[in-house]
Amino acid sequence: MKNIFTFYILLLLGFFLNAQNLKSPDNNLDLNFSIDEKGRAFYSLNFHDKPVILNSGLGFILKDNVEWMKIDTLDMMNNFKILNVTFDSVDEYWNPVWGEESEIRNNYNEMFVELQQKESERKVNIRFRLFDDSLGFRYEFPLQEKLGSFIIIDEKTEFAMAGDHTAMWIPGDYDTQEYNYTTSKLSEIEQKSIEFREENVSMYRFSNWAVQTALMMKSQNGLYINIHEAALIEYSAMHLEFNPVNMTFESHLTPDAYGNMAYMNAPHNTPWRTVIVSDDARDILASRITYNLNEPSKIEDTSWIKPTKYMGVWWEMITGQSTWWYTNDLSSVRINETNYDELEPNDSHAANNKKVMRYIDFASEHGFDALLVEGWNIGWEDWFNKKKDYVFDFLTPYPDFDIEKLNNYAKEKGISLMMHHETSGAIRNYERHMDEAYSLMNKYGYKSVKSGYVGRIIPAGERHYGQYMVDHYIYAIDKAADYKIMVNAHEAVRPTGVGRTYPNHIGNESARGAEFRGSKLNHTTILPFTRLIGGPMDYTPGIFEMDPRKNRPDFTPNLNETLAPGSVTTTLANQLGLYVVMYSPLQMAADLPKNYMRFPDAFQFIKDVALDWDKSVYLEAEPGEYLTIARKEKGTDKWFVGNSNGYNKRNSEVDFSFLDKNKKYTATIYRDSKEADYAKNPQSYKIENITVTSKSKIKIPTVPAGGFAISIFPN
Ligand code: NOJ
Ligand code: CA
Repeated sequence: MKNIFTFYILLLLGFFLNAQNLKSPDNNLDLNFSIDEKGRAFYSLNFHDKPVILNSGLGFILKDNVEWMKIDTLDMMNNFKILNVTFDSVDEYWNPVWGEESEIRNNYNEMFVELQQKESERKVNIRFRLFDDSLGFRYEFPLQEKLGSFIIIDEKTEFAMAGDHTAMWIPGDYDTQEYNYTTSKLSEIEQKSIEFREENVSMYRFSNWAVQTALMMKSQNGLYINIHEAALIEYSAMHLEFNPVNMTFESHLTPDAYGNMAYMNAPHNTPWRTVIVSDDARDILASRITYNLNEPSKIEDTSWIKPTKYMGVWWEMITGQSTWWYTNDLSSVRINETNYDELEPNDSHAANNKKVMRYIDFASEHGFDALLVEGWNIGWEDWFNKKKDYVFDFLTPYPDFDIEKLNNYAKEKGISLMMHHETSGAIRNYERHMDEAYSLMNKYGYKSVKSGYVGRIIPAGERHYGQYMVDHYIYAIDKAADYKIMVNAHEAVRPTGVGRTYPNHIGNESARGAEFRGSKLNHTTILPFTRLIGGPMDYTPGIFEMDPRKNRPDFTPNLNETLAPGSVTTTLANQLGLYVVMYSPLQMAADLPKNYMRFPDAFQFIKDVALDWDKSVYLEAEPGEYLTIARKEKGTDKWFVGNSNGYNKRNSEVDFSFLDKNKKYTATIYRDSKEADYAKNPQSYKIENITVTSKSKIKIPTVPAGGFAISIFPN
């Protein structure tokens, strides 16, 4: 009897030593960390009394870096003991270079757990940070005798779900995020993945149970749960693989050509794994955990980093009226050998002097900062998926693009040209030319570059979201900063808040943007909860002519069609709302000048809307259904409101209590008319001017895939 008693006392003591607890500053979130009898590490998370993450395992499978071709793996899953636990708290404010607000609070309680494996003596530490709205944790491998350079074969971080939540997800893919979202129960992911038919030129799907982050979920008991990562640097991007038996996600990293997941040299940390949670969806949008877990700006003088509103000689190409390439004569070209001066131009090359000057005139007249010109440089005749290493030189213009004259002309008109570097995934080639390419930009006065990574990566076997490419994207941004160049990367890995550390990284695509057309009606009611959790997106809104075929002079309508193929599936008012809903310091007015001239009163909102903010107020939000956001322009008293609506028509209720109590304002409302219909009548909108104060409350009707925008100027 006595022995049993002692046994239980020891067990209890062991339990307390091996169990640690942390609470968020407001006590809403509760984190538990424990080591079980096998020495396995676990964590769990509660929001008040509701479980968010049930007991979930932590750990790795590693390989020695020298002898990694051997089959033996090193397990870092069991046999852990706690060496030390320390606690810390931080409450501070910092000012981002650009953002949804000009001052960000960083307030968390921290628990730092130092672990060692009993026999192998390998060490790994786990740093947990608990904010009022979220949890972040990462693994830190300290410099140690038993583990120096090593390979991660598998990261075994679990996220055990407390129920069969509704999730908004895109399929796990090592190379693309340019997909529509599926909304389903977690248990339905496999079946829906099998049914999912979307194609992309560089897709690589690896499991029907895998999804990408940021993953947005809603539980049956009303919790909104978001899983993503922060500070993805020197590591590969994480996917989540669901196991329906134990309702648990496990991290699935992006492998390299050998199947290795990450190469580590201690001291080396993983990115932070983040879980944002609330019973109010608006809190997910207001969370700043992703930026708070990134390092402060590495760039000291940031005066040259400017939010940018731009147009482009672009929509013509995206909709097939013009080409990036100069000639139709050749099926293959060789940089430095093909003599373009001897070739017949094709009449549809968009980046030609005449057209670019016309676009410069228009963009300048309407107050834009920049004009993007793609297809200016030689090599587009066979530009993608040809496994061609030397695909572009990023230096030589086509014969009809006078780089000096056009840049001077833009400068005279008070704007700058935006450079375009399509790499076609040929990374060695881009890095080889990078210094010269950025120097060329400095020479002619380009301030920003849109880079692109279409097609399969060269070297073969590397993936868009693997460590090799993650290192490349950071290298390109870091080097651009040396030349005071802002970067907007397309097809790169989805952002994880690294724009705090490299604020010249003002844009990213990494999701299905407007160029795809035909998106699901609620697409932009989901993106702010998923892709935008990591940073701004170059979504390219502002399409006024939804049926791009109508841009052609020879177009004859087919009266039987209700929705023409290739159409943008929103109303025009929704397109305006996106300038506020889809936060970005880089915004494009993507449509053709002639379409803006057809609707000059609506175009006025695009001209007026700000790019940088003091404050953002999330007025209404339900992922997949609707969202309404109000933002105050940085340094002025102007406010802008945007709404995007999903599948169901709805009355939005806008409460203006965010306004200054002592002021009166004129609000200009751009909204769907009663007759508006995204398929049959998308251009039917109403503009109304009303006086508002902080006491005003109004209802605004929205149709399916509709929305509204409001500019609010003090009287
Ligand atoms: C795909 C990008 O998303 C698009 O914007 C660009 O025009 C083409 N690649 C060509 O680089
Ligand atoms: Ca793209």
